[in-house]
Amino acid sequence: SKGEGVLAGRKVVITAGPTREAIDPVRYISNRSSGKMGYALARAALAQDAEVILISGPVSLPAPPGVEMRHVTTAQDMHEATHDCIGNADIFIAAAAVADYRPADEKTQKIKKSGETMSIELVRCPDILQSVAALPRAPFTVGFAAETENVDEYARGKLENKKLDMIIANRVGADCGFDTDDNAANVFWSDGEQRFAKTQKSELANRLIALVAIAPEHICGVIVSVETAVRTNTVGDNHIELLLLELAACILVDVLGFSRKTDRERRRLQRRY
Ligand code: CTP
Repeated sequence: SKGEGVLAGRKVVITAGPTREAIDPVRYISNRSSGKMGYALARAALAQDAEVILISGPVSLPAPPGVEMRHVTTAQDMHEATHDCIGNADIFIAAAAVADYRPADEKTQKIKKSGETMSIELVRCPDILQSVAALPRAPFTVGFAAETENVDEYARGKLENKKLDMIIANRVGADCGFDTDDNAANVFWSDGEQRFAKTQKSELANRLIALVAIAPEHICGVIVSVETAVRTNTVGDNHIELLLLELAACILVDVLGFSRKTDRERRRLQRRY
């Protein structure tokens, strides 16, 4: 189906996996992220004919064929790789579990044990997601929120604080979320939400990509895809309805100067024409 997917002609940048922050030449700080969700999203976007760049921390997954890979190790590497290729991206999805802190200085020699306790000073890593959302010509920016409690409330907080277009919230814990093959998700955007029951990450990824592709603020970018989306039946009936409503709203914004959109959204719509 080359060229007929809902993301044909779109560039999608995705971060995935953990980062590693070196303590000394043999030790690092990292987390339990397997990269499975980010890799599944890359495959799903590729299946919808997007050009996909996957910026991946160290994981043990094979590179999805057809996806352009950028392998990185640290949060700083991931930050640089992201900004290197984000320029003309249409969609950015931050699925990586980026370290929030790294050791203040990386020791050049292995640290030897001495006292009964020891401490390592940590400093903040750059927030990649926030830095992309803050770009003057930001792509449609999607974040993840992995929470152990108050999932919806914390996720909505991140949507607002980081000025994201959409956030995908997961409950994580000993039994779910990280390093598993299935996942559930609650997705929030400025004026809507959708809940996805627990399913295989590959299936969840397909549904999330379908949602991102027809997301309201992105709608002008997919006008050309509406016809193929309907023909290939890749979006559900209720989405088609939403799509048509939003198209009508875009035309009102543009032709009549009527606006129910924020400045930021309007700028993005204008960029699309
Ligand atoms: N993220 C990022 N760069 C960072 C930290 C996080 O891009 N340095 C992205 C992640 O890829 C994810 C989202 O931000 O999409 C997670 O938001 P964050 O506020 O970092 O979540 P937590 O790490 O869970 O934060 P907190 O501990 O404050 O809940």
